[in-house]
Amino acid sequence: MADQLVNKISVVTGGGSGIGYAIAERFIYEGAQVVIASRNRQRLDAAVDRLGPRAQAIATDVADDQLVAQLCNQLERIDILVTCAGGALFGPVAAVSPHAVRELFATRFFGQLSMIHYAVPKMSAGSAIILCSGAADVIGLPMFSAGTAIDGAISSMARSLAIELAPRGIRVNTISPGLIKDTQIQSNMSQKQTSQFVQQTLAAIPLKRQGLPAEVADAALFLASCEYVTGQIIQIDGGWSAA
Ligand SMILES: NC(=O)c1ccc[n+]([C@@H]2O[C@H](COP(=O)([O-])OP(=O)(O)OC[C@H]3O[C@@H](n4cnc5c(N)ncnc54)[C@H](OP(=O)(O)O)[C@@H]3O)[C@@H](O)[C@H]2O)c1
Repeated sequence: MADQLVNKISVVTGGGSGIGYAIAERFIYEGAQVVIASRNRQRLDAAVDRLGPRAQAIATDVADDQLVAQLCNQLERIDILVTCAGGALFGPVAAVSPHAVRELFATRFFGQLSMIHYAVPKMSAGSAIILCSGAADVIGLPMFSAGTAIDGAISSMARSLAIELAPRGIRVNTISPGLIKDTQIQSNMSQKQTSQFVQQTLAAIPLKRQGLPAEVADAALFLASCEYVTGQIIQIDGGWSAA
């Protein structure tokens, strides 16, 4: 075990799988106590079994304000909040229903905002908030317009919150993943769509490979522990957004 986050209490939404799980695993390795929160109880329990005794699961739907309030009320304090709960919508704008877009906003945008709203009263000077955006906050990505709009909204909100919460000693930063494999996110695309999308996207990524959840966790650990960084958006995207 390393010791960068000893005695820290962290909440990681979406911590039952993918990027959130990798962040929970890294934070626990660094000594933190981690509460993972998402909807699927079975997946959460399996994750806690793998993460060990410093992990705890609370089932919640971040799109439901009351459940988010209940989650935060159960905790004495929150030192590091990471908001990874989310998903994606793939398809041409005329085929993706506005209802599905509203649902994605409810989870990915309002879910992060709601977590911050209820978590901030539990945070004191030295705490950190890490939001999850996506590399498409700065690049156009056809067939993903709803998700890219959310990426932009999150990155923008994070900059404003960083300034607003600085006087309280709470830092706010954003991880912005590019094309990250070994997560559940592509499960709403067919195998053929996924492989076509990956091939096309890799052509635009200078490092010519997909990223790993553990590589996003590297960035999250940096943002959780480096006390002079706030208001920043770290692109973990193999250079995609720089090309
Ligand atoms: N992977 C990528 O290439 C990529 C790129 C850019 C941005 N991102 C963003 O990174 C974040 C993590 O994605 P991932 O790739 O790790 O995918 P993932 O494995 O699907 O993780 C998303 C997690 O969010 C949880 N979740 C979904 N809706 C929820 C809700 N309403 N309330 C609570 N939890 C909810 C899911 O668990 P339950 O279903 O059990 O609730 C799941 O554990 C997402 O916000 C995604 O948009 C990912």
